Amino acid sequence: MRTPQVMLIARNRIFGSPDVVSIEEAPIPIPKKGQMLVRIHATTVSTGDWRLRSKNVPKGYGIIMGLLFGFKHPKYEALGTDLAGEVVALGEGVSKFQTGDRVVSNLGMKLGGHAQYRLLNENSATAKIPIDISYEQAVALVFGGVTALIFLRDKVKLKKSERLLVIGAGGAVGSSAIQLGQLMGAHVTAVCSTEKVSAVTELGIKDVIDYRERSWLTEMDKYDVILDTVGTITFEKIKHKLTAKGRLGLVVADLPTTLRNIWISLTQSQKVFSGSISENENDLQFLLSLCKQKKFRPLIGTTLPFDKIVEAHRIVESRHKLGSLVLAVSR
Ligand SMILES: NC(=O)c1ccc[n+]([C@@H]2O[C@H](COP(=O)([O-])OP(=O)(O)OC[C@H]3O[C@@H](n4cnc5c(N)ncnc54)[C@H](OP(=O)(O)O)[C@@H]3O)[C@@H](O)[C@H]2O)c1
Repeated sequence: MRTPQVMLIARNRIFGSPDVVSIEEAPIPIPKKGQMLVRIHATTVSTGDWRLRSKNVPKGYGIIMGLLFGFKHPKYEALGTDLAGEVVALGEGVSKFQTGDRVVSNLGMKLGGHAQYRLLNENSATAKIPIDISYEQAVALVFGGVTALIFLRDKVKLKKSERLLVIGAGGAVGSSAIQLGQLMGAHVTAVCSTEKVSAVTELGIKDVIDYRERSWLTEMDKYDVILDTVGTITFEKIKHKLTAKGRLGLVVADLPTTLRNIWISLTQSQKVFSGSISENENDLQFLLSLCKQKKFRPLIGTTLPFDKIVEAHRIVESRHKLGSLVLAVSR
């Protein structure tokens, strides 16, 4: 099939509410040396997209964000922290991928998934999708799955038989963390709202606290690891809930908190971890293989067509979405 020359792309030419996003036409890029062109079948609107579009970043990161993404006008072509699609053209020298390959890519802060086509470097964080995993499933495991994996495995270093509490267990990161925590052999307690209890239970978690009914903070239990994906707690507020060598993972933390965490971790037996994560191909391969073995299920709360992208941004901005929000992109 001949590749058309014009594609649709979702742009926000200013920062602001979901309404600043609109779908426009743009030329389809041509792959250069080492690049491949992917026809996108699915992407997500992630909380990363929400933060960049609305400039709602934790305190202290505004200047860094301005330098990277623009102070007055967005420097990026399109938002979109991930994509899944088919390789349709190759630049010179590409050997890892072929046309027809089904791939998923973690674009991270390089962005650009909210379009019908995107160029990828063959050495980017991109993996082939196994035949029995759909584009929607593959793309839904990227943002939350990779974040949860890096926080649990590399930052708080969760161990077998430890007790793990996950706050925000029904979101993209939380729903991945509860599953990965269980796979790592931990005893997992999930905290979520009433509406998400059944979805979290269906992911195999028996110990679920509905935060609208009871507060985990006032109960007697202690945890080896607490992972907060919401940004509602501080170390000082919850340190009595951690065991003597307990670790707190703050997926959302402002810059002063991140700096204070380093000091806490240097001076106390309990440790606090925050900071950003970086994307790589191996983590994608790992999550895809868990998904193929049916040990890990990316939770998809909503799937919308690409032209409903403004509605998608509104759902994400609510801060109460279930799992990942997938956009089905097709021509
Ligand atoms: N450090 C990093 O590199 C990194 C990477 C990825 C994401 N993040 C950040 O991590 C955060 C989570 O991302 P996400 O994509 O998982 O978000 P999400 O899908 O919107 O999930 C957040 C979840 O938190 C729950 N929640 C909201 N208020 C709550 C409260 N008061 N108590 C308990 N739960 C509450 C929401 O549902 P219910 O209230 O209905 O249960 C929702 O399911 C975002 O702020 C994102 O920017 C950071």
